[in-house]
Order: sequence, then C-alpha cells, then structure tokens
Amino acid sequence: MEMLDSRGNPTVMCEVWTDKAYGKAIVPSGASTGEYEAVELRDGDKTRYMGKGVLKAVANVNNVIAPKLVNTFDVTEQKAIDNTMIALDGTENKGKLGANAILAVSLAVAHAAANELNTPLYEYIGNLYKQIGGKTTASLLPMPMMNVINGGAHTNWESTDVQEFMIMPISAKTAAEAVRMGSEVFHNLKSILKTKCYSTSVGDEGGFAPKLKTNKEALELLMQTFVKAGYKPGKDFVICLDAAASEFYDNAHKNSTAESKYRIEGKRLTTTQIIDIYAGWVKDFPIASLEDMLDQNDWPGYVELTKRLGKTTQIMGDDFFVTNTKRLAEGIERKACNSILIKVNQIGSLSETLECIKMAHEAKFTTIISHRSGETEDTTIVDLAVAVNAGQLKTGSMSRSERVAKYNRLMYIEAELGKKTTFKNPFKN
Ligand code: PGA
Ligand code: ZN
Repeated sequence: MEMLDSRGNPTVMCEVWTDKAYGKAIVPSGASTGEYEAVELRDGDKTRYMGKGVLKAVANVNNVIAPKLVNTFDVTEQKAIDNTMIALDGTENKGKLGANAILAVSLAVAHAAANELNTPLYEYIGNLYKQIGGKTTASLLPMPMMNVINGGAHTNWESTDVQEFMIMPISAKTAAEAVRMGSEVFHNLKSILKTKCYSTSVGDEGGFAPKLKTNKEALELLMQTFVKAGYKPGKDFVICLDAAASEFYDNAHKNSTAESKYRIEGKRLTTTQIIDIYAGWVKDFPIASLEDMLDQNDWPGYVELTKRLGKTTQIMGDDFFVTNTKRLAEGIERKACNSILIKVNQIGSLSETLECIKMAHEAKFTTIISHRSGETEDTTIVDLAVAVNAGQLKTGSMSRSERVAKYNRLMYIEAELGKKTTFKNPFKN
C-alpha cells in the first residue's frame, strides 16, 4: 500500500505472508538521485501529492507481480523471485513496473523468509550472499558514518555546496560506543552552533543545516567540536564527505566545450582545479573518505582523483556507480574510485544488490551500505550491512526517528550477536 516517507512523500510498503510467517518492507527515496538509477514509478497525477503518488506501483505489486509469485515460489527462493520480477518488467531500468514496486516485494520476501526459517534477517541475507559465492561471517558490525552537517539539495542550498559532512568514530570498540560518541559530538556541535548564532534546525538526514560561509568553515567547526566533546581529531574521529557533485555541475553546458563546469562557492572550476581544492582539504583535515566528489559522467576526473588521493583516502562512487554492476565493472577496470556506496533502491532488488557487493569485495573495493535522504522506519539496510560484512554504514545523524531507528537496530544486533560480533576501524587492517 501507499505510505509516507520522512519527507512526507508517498512510498511503497509491501507485506508478504506464508502459512507460518510474515514479512514487511517499505522502500526509501532519494533527492539527489543519480542519472543512471533504476526508475521510481510515480503516478504523475497532479491532483494527488503533487504528482508523487505511487498508486500505480502499488497496483503493479498487487495485480501484476503477486499473481506471478503467489503459490508458485517458496518464499526462500529469493533469486528466482527477483529474476521473475526483473523479467516481468523487461526494461533495463525497471521503468515499467517501477523499482519501488519490485524492491518492496524483494525485501518483504526476504523478511518473510527469514521469519519462516526463524533466523535473524542479517543471518538469512548472509546465507543468500554465501550462496552466490560471497565471503562473509555475517557478524562484522558496520562502522557508522554519521552525517552531522547537511548541505546542498538536502537543505534547499541554504547551507554548504558539499551535501554531507560526516563523522566516523574510528576509535570506538563497539557499535554502541560508536553511536554514543557520535551522539556526543552531535550535541556538542549543536551547542557550538548556538554560541555562534547559527541555526540548529536539521536537514533531511538529521544533521544541522547552518548557513555557513564556506565548506571549509564546516570542516573547521567539526574539528572544534571533536575537541569540545573530548575527542582527538584524526585519532578518535575522522571526517567523511559526500559532495553529491553532480548537483553543482553545470548541466546546462554539459555538451559545450567550456571547461569550468564545477560551480562551488561562487567560482567556476575545472575538474583539475576542484581536485586541487579537495587535495587541500585532505591535507589540512583528517578526511578519510570522499564520496561523489565529481560529476557522475566525469570518468577521466574520477581516474585522476583516485590516482592522486586514492592511496590514502577512500574514493567512493554513489551516483557514479548507482549500485550497478555494469558501471562498477567499468570503474574497477579503469581504476576510477576504490569504494562503492550501496543503495538497494538504486538497482531495485536484493539479489542484484548482493551481486554488486560481491563484485566490489572481489575487487577489494570497500562497501558502504546506505540509506536515502527520504527514509522510513524500515531498518533492512542495517541487516544487509551485517549480512555481507560490509564494514561501513551510512545512515544519517543522531536525530530524526527514521535515522535513529537504524542506529537502534545496529545496537540491537550487536547485543543479540553478543560475543560473536566483531567491530573495527575500516581504514585499519
Ligand atoms: P539521496 O542522497 O538519497 O538524496 O540521493 C544521499 C546521498 O547522496 O548519499
Ligand atoms: Zn551520496
């Protein structure tokens, strides 16, 4: 059925029943979406939800997908179920039935199967991953990357150009300690912002959205906050950035020969010039990870960025790879990036997501399982991160219940696994 996400926009919820079990999933939705993502089917009927309704996607679940699956497959046949939906859709980008319809079913099926087998979801998905040849213990808790300052499209461009300033508590010994450290920094940042007369209202992912003058000011604020909270920058915490650069890349001139297409802090820069700026930030601040720092079509730029900074810094592709094995294979081949952000709704099924993670791990790319800026109370991504030993989880700040629900699930899994868990700084072998 149609439900709401954290921005108050409609999204798809699906329930699956077997004789013994029940499963439910609600799909997320992005704002700074990549050009090559699977298609989220919206009704376009301007009389409802400004055209954003998802009744067509819901009807596709009930009238097209369900009749092909119910009483045909066992709920544990995840791959066959996903393949059937992919074939039924028949398009490259799931534009016919909608990735929101297909993913809702795919994830709800996994929940129902795990319940049917009386297995925690992370263990069940871990077994699916092993079945396709993935290596995992399904017990490594992911290190969270917490988005405490929001900018770009997630704040209507009222804050910084860089979309996300994230912190990672690398000295934490457990996931619960990581959550506590992140929360302490979050609250200290709030009090620093207050003393500087900045707004402490939050953006889409629960981080603060102050009207800062420059991107560097956000980095300086974080350094100050670590110290105020009693932590050592670089030792206890590192900084991770997501520029979502396709959002400030000059699309109007995409086909022109004009070189300076990156528009940042009122300047127009070439690829090399913007990489120079990033290199300066990495030199001056303890930045461990850079995500989508260039436009999604700037392949030579990503090759250059990875060559220059990739030995010491995680260079991650989000909109650049869109959890798509074709794009990832090209990135591996051309040495563009050394890491991939994984979003289930970018590709639209659990089975394809697992294939993508496997390809990344085999190429020694790091994987970060991620939420979207439009989220719900659904916490499947946390189980996915544990299932595949992803090592990192990106799920927003320490506010807004749709973000906090994921941290709560993470701490719960840690408690449930008890002594079997491992947790570590992903940047240290
Ligand atoms: P989105 O942003 O969910 O709005 O695409 C998240 C991200 O870019 O990582
Ligand atoms: Zn991103």
